[in-house]
Amino acid sequence: MNANSANNYMTGFGNHFASEAIPGTLPEGRNSPQRVAHGLYAEQLSGTAFTAPRAENRRSWLYRIRPAAMHGPFQPYAQHRLHSDFSAGPVSPDQMRWSPLPMPESPTDFVDGLYTMAGNGGPEGQHGVGIHLYAANRSMQGRYFYDADGELLIVPQQGRLRIATEFGVIDIGPQQIAVIPRGVRFLVELPDGEARGYVCENFGAALRLPDLGPIGSNGLANPRDFETPVAAYEDVEGEFELIAKFQGHLWRADIGHSPLDVVGWHGNYAPYRYDLRRFNTIGSISYDHPDPSIFLVLTSPSDTPGVGNMDFVIFPPRWLVAQDTFRPPWFHRNIASEFMGLIHGVYDAKAEGFAPGGASLHNCMTGHGPDAATFEKASNADLSKPDVIDDTMAFMFETRAVIRPTRQAVEAAHRQRDYQACWAGLRRHFVPPQA
Ligand SMILES: [Fe+2]
Repeated sequence: MNANSANNYMTGFGNHFASEAIPGTLPEGRNSPQRVAHGLYAEQLSGTAFTAPRAENRRSWLYRIRPAAMHGPFQPYAQHRLHSDFSAGPVSPDQMRWSPLPMPESPTDFVDGLYTMAGNGGPEGQHGVGIHLYAANRSMQGRYFYDADGELLIVPQQGRLRIATEFGVIDIGPQQIAVIPRGVRFLVELPDGEARGYVCENFGAALRLPDLGPIGSNGLANPRDFETPVAAYEDVEGEFELIAKFQGHLWRADIGHSPLDVVGWHGNYAPYRYDLRRFNTIGSISYDHPDPSIFLVLTSPSDTPGVGNMDFVIFPPRWLVAQDTFRPPWFHRNIASEFMGLIHGVYDAKAEGFAPGGASLHNCMTGHGPDAATFEKASNADLSKPDVIDDTMAFMFETRAVIRPTRQAVEAAHRQRDYQACWAGLRRHFVPPQA
C-alpha cells in the first residue's frame, strides 16, 4: 500500500486524527467540498448516532478513489462456523474449558478460520458480544471483510497479523491487540504463514479507556500507547470479493477494485493497536487483592453506569508481595460472566490444563478459582519473599450478560470434559474446636 510517512502510526486514544498518503488530499475548512483534491470522493463513516454527546461521538471522513457503495449484490456466504446465534435452548452453568483450536488442515484464511465459541445479545439489539477463535494458514487474497454487527477486538496468540484497513496498515503479534471499528473494511495477511487467536465481536458501545478514579491521571493502559495507522491506500482493479458480516451471517459480493482505496482521512473513528506489555499493572503492596477490575484495559459500557457490556481484562506479568495473603486469584463467584484465554506462558491459578490458545468459561454465579495443586502450593508459600510472575499473559472477556456457549463449542473435540476434576482434589482442612 502507498503511504507517505516513515512513522506509520499516530498515538493517542480517541483523538481526532488527520492523515493523508498524498499531500494536499484533505480539504481545508470543510469536510465535503464541491470537488475533492486529486479527483477523490468524500465519504463519511459514522460509528455513533449523529446526535451522540460530543464526548462519545465518533465519525471519520474518508477521501477515496471510489465510494463504498460500489460493489455487486450480496449473496449468502457459507461459513457457518461463524455466527451470532446464542439463543437456542438451555445453557449449562458448568465450568467449561477447551484446549487450543486445532490448526486447519486445508488452506484457510482469517475469515474462513473464524469459529464462534460463545456470546450473548446480538447485532439486532446492539448489545452483547460474540466470542470467536481463529486459526488460519493463508493470507486473505483478493478479498476484503467488514463486520456491520460489531467492532472487532483481535487478540493474537500465535503468529503475526498484518491487517490492511481502509485507514492504513496495522501490524500486530502475540501480546498486542488490534481493534477494528464496526464497518471498517480490511484484509488480514499472515507473515508467519500460520496464525491463531481470539476475537471479541462487540455488538455494544465502542470500547474505551476506563475512568481511573483514585488511581489518578496515569496508570493501567495509558492513552499515548494506543496507535492508529497513517493513511495508506491500494489503487488496484480486479475480480475481488467483499465479505460482510450482517445480522449474524456472512455475505459475499463481487467488487471490481480494492476497497482499501482511502488516500486521506480525518476523524476519531479509526482502528488502533495496543501492546499489552505496556500495561501499567497495579496491585496491593500491603495485603489482599484488589478486585480484578484493576486489570481493566478497555471497556464497552452498558446503559447502566459502572456496568460493562464487555470488559477486556488482562493478567500480565507482576510482582506479588502481599503479606498474610493467598496470592493467586482466590475462589469466587461473580454476577458477571467470564470467558478467559491464555496468550503466553502460564496462568497462575492453574497448575496444568490451561494452555496458550486454550479457553475457559465461568458463567454468572458459577464457582471457580485455583485448582487443588495451586491451592496447596500457595497456602504454604513463604510470604517473606516476593513472588514474580514474569512469563504470563492471560486475558478475560467479561460481560454483564450470561455467556452462552455455541453448540459447536459444547460438542467440540477440543473441549476438556473433565475440567471440573481440577477442583476434585481440594482436601477438607476443617478442624472443629474440641469441646
Ligand atoms: Fe473468575
